[in-house]
Amino acid sequence: AIVGGVCGQPIKHSMSPVIHNAWIAAAGLDAVYVPFAPAADRFETFVDGLRGGAVRGVNVTIPFKERALAMADTASDLARMAGAANLLLFAADGSVHADNTDGPGLLGAVETQAPGFDAKSAPVVILGAGGAARGAVAALLLAGAPEIRIVNRTLARAQELVDAFGAKVVAVEEAALPGLLADAGLVINATSLGLGGGEGPAADLSLTPKTAVVMDMVYKPLRTEFLRRAEAAGLRTVDGLEMLLRQAIPTFEAIYGVAPSADVDVRGLALTLL
Ligand code: ATR
Repeated sequence: AIVGGVCGQPIKHSMSPVIHNAWIAAAGLDAVYVPFAPAADRFETFVDGLRGGAVRGVNVTIPFKERALAMADTASDLARMAGAANLLLFAADGSVHADNTDGPGLLGAVETQAPGFDAKSAPVVILGAGGAARGAVAALLLAGAPEIRIVNRTLARAQELVDAFGAKVVAVEEAALPGLLADAGLVINATSLGLGGGEGPAADLSLTPKTAVVMDMVYKPLRTEFLRRAEAAGLRTVDGLEMLLRQAIPTFEAIYGVAPSADVDVRGLALTLL
């Protein structure tokens, strides 16, 4: 059997096993996708133990994405740019390859829920400067975004992204946000604000052009307070669940070698787990 999985701490709320096992069943593969929760200080031991390819690939989630990249012998451009990996692939020769499908997931989600959006057409505003924001910056730069404006509670962390990515990325103080929204094409919440039903980041979304798209990486709840405000302002929205589902597609292909069946309603399945 082909074995794949997901590794995080904690892992029991991960939706990935349900999604991938549904695709495995639909394809009739002799395969399985299992959750792993190594102790926080044993992640490297866990990864070394998988060298050799008995497990073909694992998704990596919080809090191990940066350490996953550090464990890899080779890495994709996206993983290197993001400074993090959400996918490790194990070869028979013992080597580990790191990739990052979160960025393609983000772009795929926008394509699905805001068709016609062009990343090249207008500046992007990203709220947050952690690992999730970094992955978004990498993907959007590769997609040709003309400028990416990072707004973060801790300005120094936003400045780190500018240092890492260069001239197209700017760090801006929260107080300057209104002016930044006025010509934005895409606004993304990459903070953890709104998780569990709380208030999202403070941003007056009514200041954005009517053509702007608003995305939230938080997917619990599905319709976050931030997305509800965007809707009230008449803007198109993209939810974090779609990003999760879209990153799973290239992941499945990389681990199991076939494209997932479009006949499985993975979104419906995931919604039952939210
Ligand atoms: P992730 O991997 O999900 O990006 P992270 O690296 O911990 O997680 O980043 C969390 C992000 O949410 C950061 O941008 C953080 O802001 P700081 O850099 O100032 O910590 C932001 N964040 C979390 N709680 C916040 C709050 N109460 N108000 C404003 N921003 C918050």
